[in-house]
Amino acid sequence: MLIKIPRGWERPVEHATPEAVFRNRRALMKSLAAGPILASSSLLLAACDDAPKVAAQPPEPDPSAPLYPVDRNATYTLDRPITSEKLATSYNNYYEFGSSKSVVAESQAIPLRPWMVAIDGLVDKPIEIGVDDLLKQMPLEERLYRHRCVEAWSMDVPWSGFALKALVDFAQPKSDAKYLEMTSFNNPEVAPGQKSSWYPWPYVEGVTLAEAANEMAFIATGAYGKPLPKQNGAPLRLTLPWKYGFKSSKGLVRFTFTDKRPVGFWERIQGREYGFWANVNPEVSHPRWSQATERVLGIDGRVPTRLYNGYGEFVAELYKDMKNERLFM
Ligand code: MTE
Repeated sequence: MLIKIPRGWERPVEHATPEAVFRNRRALMKSLAAGPILASSSLLLAACDDAPKVAAQPPEPDPSAPLYPVDRNATYTLDRPITSEKLATSYNNYYEFGSSKSVVAESQAIPLRPWMVAIDGLVDKPIEIGVDDLLKQMPLEERLYRHRCVEAWSMDVPWSGFALKALVDFAQPKSDAKYLEMTSFNNPEVAPGQKSSWYPWPYVEGVTLAEAANEMAFIATGAYGKPLPKQNGAPLRLTLPWKYGFKSSKGLVRFTFTDKRPVGFWERIQGREYGFWANVNPEVSHPRWSQATERVLGIDGRVPTRLYNGYGEFVAELYKDMKNERLFM
């Protein structure tokens, strides 16, 4: 039996339908039938409490495998245990491969090589570079980061990768660049979620150049001392631990320097609920639920959420003159 009732952080259909689809009722019915199954918040909660249904698959041979493990940067520490690898690599959000948390099997269809990365927009020399050539030029390290989803669950992950600032320096943006827009892959042949025109594919997110150059902003290329699993966003995914997880795009193929504020995937779908800044704040509720506490995967009960997910000492300065912005949505 198919139950179609609104789920967790997904928006109500009447608020969220992209205009083009809304205007075409036939397309809407088709995409709803083939697309995401809308479940209730209580169903989401039930799903959260379930053990993962699909076990993580052993990593497939990857040309970047010899690069790992990399040395841990001791600056970034956790005050709770690292989430088990099994949990962190089997409880995922990756809408390209479906709207459930179990996308391990589906995401294995994405080919990781060749994987070209474009660096373009307001830069002196736009380039396209293969991911392995890019990795050779980036200073790899491991960082322990908290990761807080807007759905109010969290985990603690040893990511490997490089500071986003290293990529910014490599790109040499022009002086009028103010934002960095990051675009995920678009390949409906391997990603069933992208067959649904209901969503504004490809997944896009963006940050200010100051945020991109902040030391916390990180591109993860590995996790748990190995190349990044496909379901976690291989071969390149963003990790912005002071922001809600939807800002941390997976499967990145394009970095565009621009003077226009990017409109993110979820902001485009429902700007009332998901904004550009999306900084973690326990005192600012999502319009449909509280952000005061979170459920740490693998740990019983809930813990208080912290402003900037506990990273205020690194990032609060970025926002000191932005009192009129919706910094926490
Ligand atoms: N990136 C892409 N391309 N597609 C997505 O659906 N989901 C986001 C983010 N990045 C998403 C994405 C959300 S909502 C979260 S919480 C994190 O990925 C989840 O990352 P994880 O599965 O590695 O925990």
